[in-house]
Amino acid sequence: MAVLDKDPREEVIQAWYMDDSDEDQRLPHHLEPKQYVSLQQLDELGVLSWRLDADIYETDEELKKIRHDRNYSYMDFCEVCPEKLPNYEEKIKNFYEEHLHTDEEIRYCVAGSGYFDVRDLNDKWIRIWVKKGAMIVLPAGIYHRFTLDSDNYIKAMRLFVGDPVWTPHNRPNDHLPARKEYLKSFVEKEAGIQTVNAAA
Ligand code: LAC
Ligand code: NI
Repeated sequence: MAVLDKDPREEVIQAWYMDDSDEDQRLPHHLEPKQYVSLQQLDELGVLSWRLDADIYETDEELKKIRHDRNYSYMDFCEVCPEKLPNYEEKIKNFYEEHLHTDEEIRYCVAGSGYFDVRDLNDKWIRIWVKKGAMIVLPAGIYHRFTLDSDNYIKAMRLFVGDPVWTPHNRPNDHLPARKEYLKSFVEKEAGIQTVNAAA
């Protein structure tokens, strides 16, 4: 039965709640016992995902359709390794500073892997592991950060609507309209649903 089939995204995207140890950021940082987070839970935070065939990204009709539907006109690649990324050490450090953007962060992992950490509605860290074939969208205004995993390599396609703005706004930056919009769309909406449920 189709409903029992595993979501193909789960082979390339996994998410879990993080411990708060300050050991090496490239380690998985699972809680003990492990506490996984479903794609549905990510969806409730506004984090979207797809599973695509990274071997054919140049001709992929599915990618073309997503780009068309969501107006992702801009595209480039970011390869995170010392040889390819200027100011590697500094970038690695900055990527892992908790920040937000005023636009979506859209990343398609075409090789390697990495961790996108996002805050849930209770401000807890969720670690999202993306591997080759995973495309994710972090909504504008969500607090997040990025790190390589212990394999130390990712090649990501970066997409954007129009001229790209990569500026990170480090936390706290709660006055930004993008942050207020995010809270209104996801956090307050969720609170509203809980209130309705409690009254039912
Ligand atoms: C970025 C990721 C690292 O802002 O969060 O590019
Ligand atoms: Ni970012």
